[in-house]
Amino acid sequence: MKFSPAKMARSIGWRPIASYFLLIFIFFALLKLFPVTRQNALGVALLTFPFAVLLAWMLLKRVVLPLNLISEAAREMARGNLEKEIKIYTNDEIGDLAKSINLLASRLRRTVDEITDEKNRMRAILHSMADGVVAVDGTGRVLLVNPAVERALRITEEASRGKEIVEVVRHYDFERYLKEALRNQQELRREIQVLTPDPRIFSVQFTPLKGSDRGGVVALLRDVTERRQLEQMRNDFVANVSHELRTPMTSIKGFLETLLDGALDDREAAEHFLNIMSAETDRLTRLIDDLFALSNIENRKILPKKELLSLGNLILKVISILGQSAGEKSIKLDTVIAADMPPVSVDEDMLTRVVINLVDNAIKYTSAGGKVMVETGCDGDRAFIRITDTGIGIPEESISRVFERFYRVDRARSRQYGGTGLGLAIVKHVLEVHGGSIEVCSRIGLGSVFTAYLPL
Ligand SMILES: Nc1ncnc2c1ncn2[C@@H]1O[C@H](COP(=O)(O)OP(=O)(O)O)[C@@H](O)[C@H]1O
Ligand SMILES: [Mg+2]
Repeated sequence: MKFSPAKMARSIGWRPIASYFLLIFIFFALLKLFPVTRQNALGVALLTFPFAVLLAWMLLKRVVLPLNLISEAAREMARGNLEKEIKIYTNDEIGDLAKSINLLASRLRRTVDEITDEKNRMRAILHSMADGVVAVDGTGRVLLVNPAVERALRITEEASRGKEIVEVVRHYDFERYLKEALRNQQELRREIQVLTPDPRIFSVQFTPLKGSDRGGVVALLRDVTERRQLEQMRNDFVANVSHELRTPMTSIKGFLETLLDGALDDREAAEHFLNIMSAETDRLTRLIDDLFALSNIENRKILPKKELLSLGNLILKVISILGQSAGEKSIKLDTVIAADMPPVSVDEDMLTRVVINLVDNAIKYTSAGGKVMVETGCDGDRAFIRITDTGIGIPEESISRVFERFYRVDRARSRQYGGTGLGLAIVKHVLEVHGGSIEVCSRIGLGSVFTAYLPL
């Protein structure tokens, strides 16, 4: 680069250069005017002293102090404090340096703000996600864990950051699949079962990380417990239905074959077989009816056609239908109907079905000579229908299950009475679509109390 005094002077600024030159000029002029001799040495020294002080002061004010300020600000920046402004506004290179550092600080501040915003946004998204996210680097050290994972795998982000994932998540399958994904750097989807705090099934998608964390893997955990349970329930239901349908069909087919094999000629036997076949056909019809009813109510295909009804009248109607079967078993059927019962808004057909199912059960599961009582009344803002029997009762462990489809305490006994195992499931669903509920209380050998509640 070629040296050019004019260029240098421009870049440094004219004023400081001029003042330095002026000072030096005055100094030499004074030396010329008052040459230094042995006699005036002291005088000259005294005379030059103010100039030296002035020079030193200028140097201090113009260079040393501003540089101190700048280095102090730089130290603050290094500590992360970007708010401090260097208050030097001179028109020289030190002023320029201060301006540049201030600009640098404000740019850095903006960049840091942007990064912080971005980070906060990502954090908020990760925090509000229902799915779990775990990210690990190429060596299997935890980079990130979101709260969904903290809950699912019972770990904490604080305790796990930077640690080996295998130290943190003690799950054999998860560890195995993660290692496989790390090794192969390929997407992998697997299901894992977690037993604590409560048993859950997670579908886990392992994806290799791209960008700066290349070599790592991110795992996305989705809770599929409910879906799997629903699938299981559907499979169970189909298996149950097939089984329930097959039993009467097998029986009908068996008797048909016997009849075809010659029993047709024996009129008495033939009549007996035909009666059984008729009963089995009735059972099949009932089963299909119940299945339809249940499915319609469950899927809300049929909504209750509500009208104001007297529960007392409804109960009397059911008693007239079932009185005969109670009489056949010598079961005493009583009713207690509260005198001042207000009408209740219900679907008559649906509620009749509920009461028939409950009273029918009470009669079926009570031995001859027993008692069945049907009561109705009000309890606060609810109306209730209570069916009390002196029957066989329900074992404690079965009480919570009797409302499940096809659940029976004693399969053979239920079938003997032509039960489908769907009655109480229908009862529960009908009451639910009416905004009501059902409670049961039972002691084995003593009897059962079923209470249906309906909002008034
Ligand atoms: N009043 C009752 N006393 C004893 N057990 C009962 C009574 N009501 C219901 N249960 C039990 O609950 C089961 C389910 O009832 P339900 O759904 O009506 O089916 P089903 O009567 O067709 O067997 C019955 O099989 C029976 O074991
Ligand atoms: Mg029943």
